Amino acid sequence: MAQQGAWRSVTEPTVTSRREEHLHEAFAKEYGTVGTHMARTPGRVNLIGDHTDYNGLPVMPMAIQRDLMLLCRARTDSTVRAANVDRQFAPRSFEIQQEIAPYDPGDWGNYLKAGGQALAQQYASLCGFDAMVSSDIPIASGLSSSTALMMASALMILDLNDVAISGPQLMEMMARAEHYVGTRGGGMDQAICLGAQPQSASRIDFNPMQLTPIPVPSSWRFVIASSLVQAEKSGAAREVYNSRTRECREALGLVTAACRVPDGTSYKDLMSNASACELLGVAERTLEATLVRRFRHVVTEASRVDDAEQAMRADDVNAFGRLMSESHASLRDDFEVSCEELDNLTEIATGSGASGARLSGAGFGGCMVALCTADDVDGVVDALTAEFYSGREFGEQLEDVLFIAEPSKGACVMEV
Ligand code: GLA
Repeated sequence: MAQQGAWRSVTEPTVTSRREEHLHEAFAKEYGTVGTHMARTPGRVNLIGDHTDYNGLPVMPMAIQRDLMLLCRARTDSTVRAANVDRQFAPRSFEIQQEIAPYDPGDWGNYLKAGGQALAQQYASLCGFDAMVSSDIPIASGLSSSTALMMASALMILDLNDVAISGPQLMEMMARAEHYVGTRGGGMDQAICLGAQPQSASRIDFNPMQLTPIPVPSSWRFVIASSLVQAEKSGAAREVYNSRTRECREALGLVTAACRVPDGTSYKDLMSNASACELLGVAERTLEATLVRRFRHVVTEASRVDDAEQAMRADDVNAFGRLMSESHASLRDDFEVSCEELDNLTEIATGSGASGARLSGAGFGGCMVALCTADDVDGVVDALTAEFYSGREFGEQLEDVLFIAEPSKGACVMEV
């Protein structure tokens, strides 16, 4: 048998939650038999470094306690059938093959197809599975609920087919695989989903992909607050997101030409040969105003990730918070991916004791993340509740839109 991936969990979970019980019941009802394998994939919150990954520059996310469970049973053919305990997601069925026609944009099944197609292009004759999904990661909130689905399904295919692949290889493959849904993302979400360590954030570098865990100081609290504005990666936000990736490429091309360095020089190469200040000088002389702003966000954000890593290692909550707030200002003014609700949330958080706050993920809605100490966290949560959520519609429970992120471990697959 081929060597199992590092995500293969040998220890069985001892406590079965109500959510898991419900998942098993739903599986039995749908398929008339029991599920045998479970993949669990976490959501993530990005602490700093947004819109840097697809430019080959670092990010610093952490996995959170909210996760997706995919309960499965292997099939002998290549069919994947998937249903969801949340009935707004209709059952889906397709064959794992090298070219899989996508559903309409925004369909949840495309994330299952994305991983399946990428793996079929690499490995022959993969068997499929019957699956039931349950997720408590808020949807379209910038917390990577869709990447969690793609990764769970890919890990399940690998596990059921005894395919061995290294973590970094799989992260790179899945980063490309997700382009299937039409968003030209970088590799942050796939990497942290797979490689996160408990009680830690991770610095992720690209080309080559490398994760460095950084323990989160025990007195730090990250508060996640939803703007209640949906940021559907494969929906409305897709075109704006893709236009940002184009602008960043264009700015890079023009700056490298002005610096007379070879075509194909990356942001990373540029930044290791010149200071951010020098590069901004070239950008201001070379680019039109919008591209200057995009370029400035990218290079300053990458420097902030370096500084944030040092601040976390030094347990300097104020320095880390300051960098988060600078990051938000840059995403709002230079990269133009914030919205009124996100700006409002960051102001409430910093006005009530948070050391810093920023939008997290792609933006255009989704969540804010604020950093505070254990002593200040209640004050921040109370202020957000009173000043933002009271009087707004937020679904069934406040905990779904406002909660404290626990730095959690990455994905795993196990027999149940
Ligand atoms: C989305 C993408 C990521 C990253 C962030 C912005 O989450 O999937 O690759 O680009 O946006 O930092």
